[in-house]
Amino acid sequence: EQIEKGGYEHFMLKEIFEQPKSIHDTLRGRLLVEEGIIKMAGIWDHLERLNQAQKITIIACGTSWHAGLIGEYLIEEFARIPVEVEYASEFRYRNPIITDKDIVIAISQSGETADTMAAIKMAKEKGAFVYGICNVVDSSISRITDAGSYTHAGPEIGVASTKAFTSQLTVLSLIALKLGKHNGHLSNQEFMKLITELDALPKKVEEVLESTHEHVKEIAKHFIGAQNFLYLGRGYNFPAALEGALKLKEISYIHAEGYPAAEMKHGPIALIDENMPIVIIAPKQGHYDKIVSNVQEIKARKGRIIALVNKGDTQVASVADFVIEFPETSECFSPIIASIPLQLLAYYIAVYRGANVDQPRNLAKSVTVE
Ligand code: AGP
Repeated sequence: EQIEKGGYEHFMLKEIFEQPKSIHDTLRGRLLVEEGIIKMAGIWDHLERLNQAQKITIIACGTSWHAGLIGEYLIEEFARIPVEVEYASEFRYRNPIITDKDIVIAISQSGETADTMAAIKMAKEKGAFVYGICNVVDSSISRITDAGSYTHAGPEIGVASTKAFTSQLTVLSLIALKLGKHNGHLSNQEFMKLITELDALPKKVEEVLESTHEHVKEIAKHFIGAQNFLYLGRGYNFPAALEGALKLKEISYIHAEGYPAAEMKHGPIALIDENMPIVIIAPKQGHYDKIVSNVQEIKARKGRIIALVNKGDTQVASVADFVIEFPETSECFSPIIASIPLQLLAYYIAVYRGANVDQPRNLAKSVTVE
């Protein structure tokens, strides 16, 4: 096992550090920047059907569901196809309106999750075309779906999903850009700009790992005794906030909630005092001014702020208690980069609390029973 961990203390840390490679592997052979194309067999073979979809429903559980929420933002922004995202466990029991004009995208790291399997079967019975995004090659879900794309993140052993999540986001980005380019909603110029940025992600993820690792490890020490955490983000980074909170609760057993930052006023603000740590994702793009006022509102109530900002930020940084800088990218890709320090933060808080990071209590890597 020590050899498999490659010198890291836990599989989770190893997998966090593998992300420059896993994202690169997700993109390999698919993103051809010089030729200006995205080549994905699963999509290419069914491009017409996908682009004629009246709506796309994304089904998944847990972290994969969070990836699905970001997929909704991506596909609606770039391909202009309406998207709904559902927990597979709800979808399967509520007789949803699905027809043979619908596309269902099922996302699953393991490809074995029982609820996602059952939801796929139901969608197929209703005539939908089901597209799978799985990490485990030849898994049950990859076999029962009509078409699909593998994430190619490599084996993920830690129960808390890390590299599979960022690879899911990478595949969803490829799909959204490919559909948008094909159906004409995305101009060639915009497409070229975005694929160039996508291509630069492995490098930026490496950069953020190097520049934040030790710093986040130090920050984590201040929060070992926390009982609650609030994670906030807007737009693309709202689901990233949900995912940050899930990571923390899974492995450290600290209660954590993710919220869209603007929703703070509708309830969670009542919880804020000097004992409430708040992680806020505040990149330059994406309603930055609104985030600045959210940060000020938190500070006025003495909340302890850990802010994730782009390099060189001064406005949010001057108010926050702790600042984590990450490289700039388009808003749509920022969750991929912002997730890295969030994973590290959850990891180190859990390690300092003496928790079993790779095998958290009560959790299984894949939930194959209801
Ligand atoms: C992630 O950290 C969790 N352990 C869990 O939420 C997981 O994402 C969920 O069970 C779905 O698994 P899947 O992607 O293998 O279907």
